[in-house]
Amino acid sequence: MAEPHPKLSSSFPNTGYFIMTEAINNTPTRRDALVAGTGIAVGSALTGLSLPGAFAGESDIMQIALVGCGGRGTGAAANALATKNGPIKLVAMADAYEDRLKTSNRVLTKRFKEQVEVGDDKQFVGFDGYKKAMDTLKPGDVVIMATPPAFRWVMFKYAIEKGLNVFMEKPVAVDGPTSVKMFKLAEEAEKKKLKVAVGLMCRHCDARGELFKRIKGGEIGDLTLLRAYRLAGPTGNTPVAKKKPDQNELEYQIRQFHGFLWASGGAYSDFLIHNIDECCWMKDAWPVSAKSNGGRHYRGNYVDQNFDAYTTEFTFADGTKLILEGRTMQGCHQEFASYAHGTKGAAVISESGHAPSHARTFKTHSFEDKDIIWPGMKEEPDPYQLEWEHFTESIRKDKPHNEVKRGTEASLVTAMGRMSAHTGRIITRDEMLKCEHEFAPDIEKMVVGGPAPIIADADGKYPLPEPGRKTKREY
Ligand SMILES: NC(=O)c1ccc[n+]([C@@H]2O[C@H](COP(=O)([O-])OP(=O)(O)OC[C@H]3O[C@@H](n4cnc5c(N)ncnc54)[C@H](O)[C@@H]3O)[C@@H](O)[C@H]2O)c1
Repeated sequence: MAEPHPKLSSSFPNTGYFIMTEAINNTPTRRDALVAGTGIAVGSALTGLSLPGAFAGESDIMQIALVGCGGRGTGAAANALATKNGPIKLVAMADAYEDRLKTSNRVLTKRFKEQVEVGDDKQFVGFDGYKKAMDTLKPGDVVIMATPPAFRWVMFKYAIEKGLNVFMEKPVAVDGPTSVKMFKLAEEAEKKKLKVAVGLMCRHCDARGELFKRIKGGEIGDLTLLRAYRLAGPTGNTPVAKKKPDQNELEYQIRQFHGFLWASGGAYSDFLIHNIDECCWMKDAWPVSAKSNGGRHYRGNYVDQNFDAYTTEFTFADGTKLILEGRTMQGCHQEFASYAHGTKGAAVISESGHAPSHARTFKTHSFEDKDIIWPGMKEEPDPYQLEWEHFTESIRKDKPHNEVKRGTEASLVTAMGRMSAHTGRIITRDEMLKCEHEFAPDIEKMVVGGPAPIIADADGKYPLPEPGRKTKREY
């Protein structure tokens, strides 16, 4: 059998994931150097003049709090502080673990000296830190939620109570029951006219936006097939080694959240959501069922709950298919791309990672240059930055901006595809919505050092999906 794979991060550029090697080692030392590698263009001209608009309370300064100070949280805060549509400051930070918070604070302070005002009394460690950080804000300020997705609904609920605008990372739910909770919270936020952004940043990409218009305009005819691939080496912290005796169980699971379905929805939900979402955007619909395959091949002594390869055939209400392939296996063909096929031609939705997309259209299905209809855009600004420009502008100008329903739909589709692979059954959207298996039912009561949602057996192994054998629940 092949040697178990070393813990590598994704080899694709601009995935937003490549600073997570540190989370695996639990050592914060490399973060300073790596935060620059979030795919974010952090400019030096950081202060802009405030625009007139709805965000004009006591001061024009938009205050933000960061909850979940890991790789992406730090990157998202950097994007926020680099926006150019008005003054913005980071005023509070919260993380379950002090080392993560301190490192993030140091990195952000170094880069945004004038905009980070997070004294010791505004740094909150522990599982209730999110409340304390949000309590420092005024209604209309912004909270960034970049913890593992399992905590999303708990924190979103509190943010709505406090009247805060929210930027939350994807996925926004990990299973059927938490998706249902998020749909309801999306409505509550809507009623309160809160602005909520979801970190599916490709939705803010200009080239994909232009492609969507062209597809809607009939440039490649009616869509008959979509294809999406995220075939990479081991990504993020999907391969998880056995817990060491001195490691706290809950902390071990949270720090390696890609390995545990309750925390992240696993490699399927966390990594494949972007390609799924961009395909569904082009189709302008969500699939109604999923038929998947998958397996564990070279897992060696790793104890996480992931399969290392997944294939799904999603079906839309009109019968159109989306074929998805995901893999986190070393030494195999690599591809990170999405394509659309229509009755009059085809399109590249994205070609090698999130950005640049190289979106373009063709009059045939061969993807040859000679058949190009629209060659795409020469320049593609960073979608991680664009999503923040759009979000903060919506807040300042009081324009509707609520991406939660859409983000929950995308998260639900990942749960549906994953459950199909893990159970060996066709899973419909309706079944997923009615599914009673909530992976972490008491998560709002979780305390640092408390019990974890799943426990290992005497060999240190966690419950695994067994398609065809465990068919009602994923594990
Ligand atoms: N949009 C993208 O392209 C993109 C890229 C990377 C990550 N993400 C998403 O961002 C989220 C975070 O991922 P990451 O890579 O930054 O992981 P990470 O492990 O680097 O950061 C997560 C942080 O949350 C903290 N945390 C965990 N539970 C907490 C709790 N209950 N309260 C407060 N803090 C808590 C952890 O200690 C850690 O510092 C995930 O949902 C991931 O899918 C999105």
